[in-house]
Amino acid sequence: MKGVILAGGLGTRLFPLTKITNKHLLPVYDRPMIYYPIEALVNAGIEDIMIVTGGRKSGDFLSLLGNGADFGLKHLNYTYQKGEGGIAEALGLCEHWAADDSVCVILGDNIIEHNIAKAVRDFREQAVGAKIMLKEVPDPERFGVAELHGEKVVGIVEKPKEPKTNLAVIGIYMYDNRVFDVIKTLEPSDRGELEITDVNNWYIHDGSMSYQVLDGWWTDAGTFDSLIKAGVLVSEGGANKMDG
Ligand code: G1P
Repeated sequence: MKGVILAGGLGTRLFPLTKITNKHLLPVYDRPMIYYPIEALVNAGIEDIMIVTGGRKSGDFLSLLGNGADFGLKHLNYTYQKGEGGIAEALGLCEHWAADDSVCVILGDNIIEHNIAKAVRDFREQAVGAKIMLKEVPDPERFGVAELHGEKVVGIVEKPKEPKTNLAVIGIYMYDNRVFDVIKTLEPSDRGELEITDVNNWYIHDGSMSYQVLDGWWTDAGTFDSLIKAGVLVSEGGANKMDG
């Protein structure tokens, strides 16, 4: 399985912090934001990693990360997303690189307390389909929200005004290689982006979507409030812990 970190976009919700730099290079407590998703993949045993970046300061990722020696990696891959075409479009840019492999995708502003090693192991055994990670949140209207029926996810709604559950779909997704064909069938949403929620709903209709509820805290860091929250959570006990 290969790892993809999505670190493009213009970070408009954090303007003017993102006026001269990329959101994922901003500090979260003692490290640049992008360090956390890299560590999350490495902790799950995924070492072949692509970083999809974009925007004005994409070259700074190379200066900061090089070939990933700080994470024990021998090599890192980079590609560039022009504009703000969405998460699914960014993932689509990895098709050639992924070749026939499956992918574990993590949004560059998602930070977790523990690790996803078990979920990745389970998905390797699942062999076909997709897997999402869910987390109960107090503000589901900010996220993709999952509806469950027994042990199955029956649908995901992106940022619903009246969420049916408080289960957010967090920004960590696992897909078999069909994902690249699925992305080619998508139409832009009202916000003009190819939505990862549409990809996930395709797998739900295919009957091949599994899920796991994440242990420990999770946060994104793409708004002023969540950025400060992420810094506080990391300062209080650290992220990407290997126990638990
Ligand atoms: C994206 C996804 C959403 C998901 C969230 C997690 O939202 O579209 O489904 O719950 O990431 O961070 P965005 O940050 O693009 O608004």
